[in-house]
Amino acid sequence: MSESDILNPERQREEVETGWPLELGSDDLRRMVDAAMERVTAHLEALPRQPMSYTSGGEELARSLREKEMPETATPFTDLLATVFDQGLQKTYNTPSPGYLAYIPGGGLLHAAVADLIANAINRYVGVWVAAPGLVELEANVLRWFCQMVGYPEGSLGVLTSGGSLANFTAIVTARRIRLEEDFLRGTLYCSDQVHHSITKAAMLAGFPVNNIREVPSDEQQRIEIEALKAQIDSDRQAGMEPFLVVGSAGTVNTGAVDDFEALADVAHERSLWLHVDGAYGGFFALTERGQQTMGGLELADSITLDPHKGLFLPYGTGCLLVRDKETLRRAHHLEADYMPEMQQAPDLVDFCELSPELSRDFRGLRVWLPLKMHGFSVFREALDEKLDLAAWAYEELRSIDHMEIVAEPQLSILAFRLAPPDFDDDAGDELNRELLRRINGRQRVFLTATTLGGRFVIRICVLSFRTHLDRMRQALEDIREAVGEALAH
Ligand SMILES: Cc1ncc(COP(=O)(O)O)c(C=O)c1O
Repeated sequence: MSESDILNPERQREEVETGWPLELGSDDLRRMVDAAMERVTAHLEALPRQPMSYTSGGEELARSLREKEMPETATPFTDLLATVFDQGLQKTYNTPSPGYLAYIPGGGLLHAAVADLIANAINRYVGVWVAAPGLVELEANVLRWFCQMVGYPEGSLGVLTSGGSLANFTAIVTARRIRLEEDFLRGTLYCSDQVHHSITKAAMLAGFPVNNIREVPSDEQQRIEIEALKAQIDSDRQAGMEPFLVVGSAGTVNTGAVDDFEALADVAHERSLWLHVDGAYGGFFALTERGQQTMGGLELADSITLDPHKGLFLPYGTGCLLVRDKETLRRAHHLEADYMPEMQQAPDLVDFCELSPELSRDFRGLRVWLPLKMHGFSVFREALDEKLDLAAWAYEELRSIDHMEIVAEPQLSILAFRLAPPDFDDDAGDELNRELLRRINGRQRVFLTATTLGGRFVIRICVLSFRTHLDRMRQALEDIREAVGEALAH
């Protein structure tokens, strides 16, 4: 079989007539992977030089790729690669670039791509223990390591989810089922005004009226105000509501603020509330000494969301929920069915379908396990330490720019700033900062985003990509300085 056979539409057509075209042979698989790898490596080599975000024309691109008819005949693989790489990949945010300092950067460790290839090729079923006990154990190892990282005791565990939103959702449903009766509509939950909107969405989807979600004000460091929280819980209880859950943040999306977990745990304990911590952005900084100091008391939470596709630099589609007591997760999700195999009763073994809303799912544990085993946690700790250093460096540099106001100092690796010259009122200041952001991003070397703090438009930097190092941060500061000069002269 010649090398081009698998890429040849004639051959694909012949296969339809004569063989079993869906049963790819080893040689064909190798050729497909090689052809794909050529495009992937070329793309990755160019990545650092590619523009950060070129989305104008996205509408035309999307419409040009619309296919009304179901394809009935074969298309050569190389043509399909061209569709993905030459068209689909255009007009995107360059999320894996070292210059992506926007929102919360995703990762994309290539080890995980290889792990996914293996996991999908072997396609074993990890929803129930008996179907793949060894592979389930590899995934359980990852969860136990995470529990160790956050300081959880024996008996803790969790599940890997598709992301932070699903982890938060699972946490809220678990807290609801453990702390409230079936009739739960008087249940109220508490979070700061800085909490990620996935918490509100999760509460909504878990069946709570939106009015039962109490947004507690935050202090000048964007941390939940403990006295206001207590007062709100107590007045709700007096009014006949059933406070059952408080959510803290281990790194808010706006500014990376970390709540006071010891104080939150006291409040939760005294008032019998479940404490959930959303550490989707910041949780993995617990690997570092500085992160541990900033997030003291994290282990007091009943549940913690982590997002390996953020803080462990993995590709999108990898979240995690940890619970201090594995039984809580099991009690919330356990359900029997006649056609299911018997579940494990041994406390050291786990059927993941008993801890999660999912039954069938991908073997996502492998994409976490492989890079962690290949490098060890030490390499991830160093990389996260570097991000803390880079954010601290950017903070010092920004402070040296005239009229630059640091609105949020980095507690972890996010900071927020605003250009505030004296002769600009608040509204004119907002417009000036919008212009500044346009000019920074227009240079296409870094991509920053903005948010609103205290009603004012502020620009954020979030350093979290494993590809971001000092060279790119220097470019970021160069671009910011130049853009400040231009925006003020404008
Ligand atoms: C603090 C926080 N929580 C939750 C989420 C939601 O996570 P995901 O996008 O993985 O669903 C995010 C996403 O940026 C976040 O920053």
